[in-house]
Amino acid sequence: MLRRYVHITPMTIDKFINERSADVLEELCAFLRIPSISTSPDHNDDCRAAARWVADHLKSVGCERVELLANDTHPVVWAEGPTVPGKPTILVYGHYDVQPPDPLELWDSPPFEPTVRDGNLFARGATDDKGQVFAIVKAFEAVMGTGRPPVNVRFLVEGQEESGGEVLTELLQRDPERVAADAVLVADMPYYAPGWPAIYTALRGMCYCDITVRTLEGDLHSGLYGGVAPNAHETLVGILAGLKSSNGRIRIPGLYDMVQRPPKVERDAWKRLPFNERRYMKTEVGAKALTGLTQYPPLERTWALPTLEIHGISGGFTAPGAKTVIPAVAGAKVSLRLVPNQKAKKVETLLRRRVKELAPSYAHVSVDFIHGADPVLADVTAPPFDRIRQAFREVEGREAVPIRSGGSIPIVPALGVKKAPVILTGIGLPDDRLHAPNEKISLEQFWKGVRVFGRFFQLMGE
Ligand code: BES
Ligand code: MN
Ligand code: MN
Repeated sequence: MLRRYVHITPMTIDKFINERSADVLEELCAFLRIPSISTSPDHNDDCRAAARWVADHLKSVGCERVELLANDTHPVVWAEGPTVPGKPTILVYGHYDVQPPDPLELWDSPPFEPTVRDGNLFARGATDDKGQVFAIVKAFEAVMGTGRPPVNVRFLVEGQEESGGEVLTELLQRDPERVAADAVLVADMPYYAPGWPAIYTALRGMCYCDITVRTLEGDLHSGLYGGVAPNAHETLVGILAGLKSSNGRIRIPGLYDMVQRPPKVERDAWKRLPFNERRYMKTEVGAKALTGLTQYPPLERTWALPTLEIHGISGGFTAPGAKTVIPAVAGAKVSLRLVPNQKAKKVETLLRRRVKELAPSYAHVSVDFIHGADPVLADVTAPPFDRIRQAFREVEGREAVPIRSGGSIPIVPALGVKKAPVILTGIGLPDDRLHAPNEKISLEQFWKGVRVFGRFFQLMGE
């Protein structure tokens, strides 16, 4: 194709948006139609298709050395923009995999049939993370125009972020040079609030486990044996209850030893953010009370303290009607969110020890580690942070706020091993409903994203 070699004045970002918005939206919809759910093996072909779609698209916007790496079911996409000697290198990280869409009946339009309503594009993956990574790809295309990009850009787009997959971690252990860059840009997070862009200073980590309890060789009649036979559910529930006290403190010895309270200046800055606890409780959380360690403010509880959640309990009889049985086996999925200084492997050991301590001697109890992620604490003072802050200032007219997030992105620690500053940001909104029915991206935010990331590339090249 000729177009890459003809040197015409590059289109400005706004001109690109004005001229190409309909095509760009159509392209994003094509990406969103692929049900690349990485947590379910039934969708392995779709994940492969999404990886190929990303690779082909990156080629079509002028990337070279486009490769699918590491794995045939969930390949990692690697691509490099044209080499621009003497200019910095930006590594863009994103993920093409999505969470399962269920419960399907709660979607107003099907999750893999992207639909625009009231200025929002609804689809699974719209904000997490297809829409956001696509905004960066379009920003790259816009600043490249028909000439050269202002900086060296590399793309690393994985397909196992949502399943905690270790493929990319292993790939980067073998080949750490992939993350050698002047900055890493990760757009997989929301603004603090509409009009309030955010630069994240920390992410929580995670330790996800299955707990299984067996108390009998087989299920028993509750009439004949009720009164003597140990019940697996009762035993499991006892163990779970022993993991947290009613005031919200997690009862795993040693868990809080590594927790460092954020510095006072940081906590004071959080107090200046617009936050209305009542409205947050009623409209965002949708509850009648906020629980947990209520002696700490809600933002500190979700951003800077560990949590323990029970995600689901299985076993026994749950079908309609009644069955009088003493269950022999019961299971629970639990996870802990971790905060800076904690380590997933260490917390796994502490959890195992505590579960063992709580288990009665008649029960066989096992803890299986499913996946983990170490927390992240980001120093946001390196020069590239000034560039992204300037881009937000120009586009949004407000300074990006330094905040933390309760969410996790397992690969982030590995993105920083070559000492590149990792910029954790995004253009989502807090009500995007990621992982839930009716996930969406605001189209206004999407176009702002193209402008912000395009300006970031330009400023990095100056
Ligand atoms: N993009 C999210 C993480 C996120 C969301 C961070 C909002 C900050 C603000 C990511 O795709 C995600 O869902 N991560 C999982 C990781 C887990 C499966 C190991 C999470 O946080 O549950
Ligand atoms: Mn994500
Ligand atoms: Mn996610």
